[in-house]
Amino acid sequence: MIVKVLGSAAGGGFPQANCNCRNCADVRVGKPGLTPRTQSSLAVTGDGERWVLLNASPDIRQQIAATPALAPRPDGGARSSPIAAVALTNADVDHVAGLLSLREGLSFSLYATARVLDTLAANSIFNVLGPRHVARMALPLGSRIEVEGGLAIVAYPVPGKVALYLEDTNRGLAQEGDGIGLEVSDPATGAAFHYIPGCAVVDAALARRLDAARLVLFDGTLYSDDEMITQGLSDKTGQRMGHISMSGRLGSMAAFAALGVERRVFVHINNSNPVLRDDSPERTDVQRSGWEIAYDGMEIRL
Ligand code: MLT
Ligand code: MN
Ligand code: ZN
Repeated sequence: MIVKVLGSAAGGGFPQANCNCRNCADVRVGKPGLTPRTQSSLAVTGDGERWVLLNASPDIRQQIAATPALAPRPDGGARSSPIAAVALTNADVDHVAGLLSLREGLSFSLYATARVLDTLAANSIFNVLGPRHVARMALPLGSRIEVEGGLAIVAYPVPGKVALYLEDTNRGLAQEGDGIGLEVSDPATGAAFHYIPGCAVVDAALARRLDAARLVLFDGTLYSDDEMITQGLSDKTGQRMGHISMSGRLGSMAAFAALGVERRVFVHINNSNPVLRDDSPERTDVQRSGWEIAYDGMEIRL
C-alpha cells in the first residue's frame, strides 16, 4: 500500500490568501525553515494502479499536477485517470470543494456517510457530478467495505463538529456521521492505517480503535487551543471548531502517549500552528513525543 499526502494544511492552506500571521508572512517571502502547504487530502493505492483520494481539497488540480502517479497513463486513451474513487471524512469546504474540479467526465466512486451525501445532494452545484460518471455510495459505520485500488475501508464516527456552513441549520451540533475516521487496509497484505483529519477529543472508543495501530494520520490543526485568539486571527478556540489541540492535558500528544501507535503523523495543520516552523520549540516538542509533521508530497509505504 502506498499513502501519499497531497495536502497537509488545514482549510485556507499555507500561506492563506488573507492571512498576515507570522507563519504566513514568513512563508510568503520564502523565509528558510517554513514550507508552503496545500489543503487537506491524501491519495492511497493497494494495487499501485488505481488510486483512492481521501478528501477532495480546493487545491486538487495543483495536487494532481504535482503527483505523476495521478496523471493519465500515456496508453490510457483520449480520456483516462488513475483516480478511481474519492472518500470523504466530512462535508467541510476544504474536503469537498475539490469535487467540483473532478467534473470533466471523470468516472469514479464517491464514498461518504449518508449525512454527508445528503449535504452534497442538497447543494445542487454538485450535480455537475452526474450519475452517469459518479456513483455516490453511502459508507456504513463500523463495517468494512471493499473499494477500488485493491483497498478496503472501515468508516467510524469521531467526535467533532458539523461543517461551518451548516452551523445555522444544525445549531452547530454534530450528529453521527457528520465526521468520521477511516481505517484503510490492503486485504492482500494486511497493512492498515487510520486517517482522522478532524477530531475534537480522543474518547475511550477512539483510543480502543487506535491502540497498537501501525500508522495514524491525525488532526494537527492547532498546537494550543487558543492560538487563533492570541494571534488575533479569530475569536474561536480549537474546541469551538471541533479540533483537539496537540499540547495540553487533553491534547493529542497526551492522549496518544498511552496508545501503542507505531507511527503518528499530524495532518490538517493550520497556518497559525507554530510546529510549521522547523526551528520552533513546539516542533521539537512534538518530535520528542514521537510525532511527525506531514508535508505535501510525503509518501509512506506500508
Ligand atoms: C475545519 O477544519 O474546522 C473546517 O474545515 C472548517 C469549515 O467547515 O470550513
Ligand atoms: Mn478543515
Ligand atoms: Zn496565517
